[in-house]
Amino acid sequence: TFVVTEACIRCKYTDCVSVCPVDCFHEGPNFLVIDPAGCIDCGVCVPECPASAIYEEADLPVDQQAFVAINARLAQQWPVINAAKEPLSDAEQWADVKGKLQYLEE
Ligand code: SF4
Ligand code: F3S
Repeated sequence: TFVVTEACIRCKYTDCVSVCPVDCFHEGPNFLVIDPAGCIDCGVCVPECPASAIYEEADLPVDQQAFVAINARLAQQWPVINAAKEPLSDAEQWADVKGKLQYLEE
């Protein structure tokens, strides 16, 4: 299963969603998650993300482990997104900022 991590928060470029063959991305106010029940592990979304936010679960950096549960939980409550849209307006400014979990909006 692939997992969206902190780098997506406050950016939400959405390039990832248009390539997913099973439409398993779900959209919140300033973050996207992958539904682990839908992901078929194809990996095509990974190189699409300008923020390098998507990892295979086994390759997650140690400080991003919490995002396994965050993706699973929020995929249950947020709607599917399968068409790309404009990134958040200040996405570039936030793309390289660390410690963004505190800004996650549900
Ligand atoms: Fe979708 Fe494939 Fe990415 Fe999973 S790995 S979220 S199936 S594009
Ligand atoms: Fe987020 Fe990257 Fe997709 S920033 S919306 S995971 S393209």
